[in-house]
Amino acid sequence: LTPEETRSIGERKRHKRKLGVGVIGLGHNGIAFVQGYLNNPLCELKAICDISKGRLKDVTEEYNIRSAYNDYGILDRDDIDVISVHTSDHLHTEPVVKALEAGKHVFVEKPMAMTIDDLAKIVGAVKRSGTKLMAGHILRFNQHFRMVKELVDSGTLGRIFYMEGDYVHDLRYQADPARYSEELGCNWYLEREIPMVGGGIHPFDLLRWFVGCNAIEVKSYGNHVAFPAMKSDDCMAAIFKFENGCLAKVAATYGCVSPYAFCNHVSVYGTKGTVNRDKLCLEGFGERWADLPPLSGEGHPYDPEIDSFLRCILEGTEPPVDVVDAANSTSAVITAAEATNADKGVKIPLFSW
Ligand SMILES: NC(=O)c1ccc[n+]([C@@H]2O[C@H](COP(=O)([O-])OP(=O)(O)OC[C@H]3O[C@@H](n4cnc5c(N)ncnc54)[C@H](O)[C@@H]3O)[C@@H](O)[C@H]2O)c1
Repeated sequence: LTPEETRSIGERKRHKRKLGVGVIGLGHNGIAFVQGYLNNPLCELKAICDISKGRLKDVTEEYNIRSAYNDYGILDRDDIDVISVHTSDHLHTEPVVKALEAGKHVFVEKPMAMTIDDLAKIVGAVKRSGTKLMAGHILRFNQHFRMVKELVDSGTLGRIFYMEGDYVHDLRYQADPARYSEELGCNWYLEREIPMVGGGIHPFDLLRWFVGCNAIEVKSYGNHVAFPAMKSDDCMAAIFKFENGCLAKVAATYGCVSPYAFCNHVSVYGTKGTVNRDKLCLEGFGERWADLPPLSGEGHPYDPEIDSFLRCILEGTEPPVDVVDAANSTSAVITAAEATNADKGVKIPLFSW
């Protein structure tokens, strides 16, 4: 037996029963999760769902999946414990709330929602359901960022007073006519995507996780120059003020000229040390930069993310990114996007248990 097979048998014995999983939304991201669930010994992928019959057929055939739904009938299945939601950014709330009301545990991709009202609906539904929700803040599972978190938590960097995070991508390929959805009647990326919310949430959530407290106010700017096919401003930059006085700058821009994928630069400045992307400088160790392990190609480690969610359901523990945690990261970037070019700083609505 390979180590993986031995581990898999051990897991199955320990947890006795596999969790039944259903996946809603079968784009690039949903398919990556279909693969992840198929490979995980703690669960069994029972069914998939998409409003596009073509996608449903393709994925069913490619992965030999026996049960496929074109509607929310997937939620009526008693053998499904977990629903994993990978629909377009602006279409997370309905399947998430319906799944929670059907008594399912829910994984939902970032951004959990695109309005404060929708965040409130999801937080309320989780509180009523008694089941668990985890949001897909994938970069918290990236080894490079976990190391930065350890440097902050151990006090190595001292008191954190300033941070920067960028989501800088050339996403102009999203204008490809093949991205048009007959079912949605649009290319949602061009019509509904908001860079600070869909992209900026990645670095913002990391920064909020590093300092361990909420951002309370934001001032932001935007322009619409580099990717005019998008309806929204395609470049946004915001300054956040946190509860502990720390400041952070977050930028999200979708039309820069760069190789794919070029993104997620994070710097953290503390009274005893600085992390500047993949360099570290500590007070008392000479005026020099030391190399940190670089932000590698494993930028989107879905397997450990999936594994940690399944484990928290089986073991009755809290998810690493619970609904209130995700709501407070998402609320901050939604407020930043809505406050674009406002005269003064805007207060960020916060959620609690
Ligand atoms: N964590 C990450 O790093 C990461 C990376 C890529 C995408 N994402 C997120 O994953 C989500 C999906 O992104 P994508 O690029 O795969 O999008 P996509 O448009 O390619 O796929 C979305 C799919 O959802 C389907 N859909 C929409 N509404 C539905 C509904 N109500 N019921 C069933 N199916 C429905 C669409 O038909 C489509 O097949 C987005 O929220 C995106 O932000 C996250």
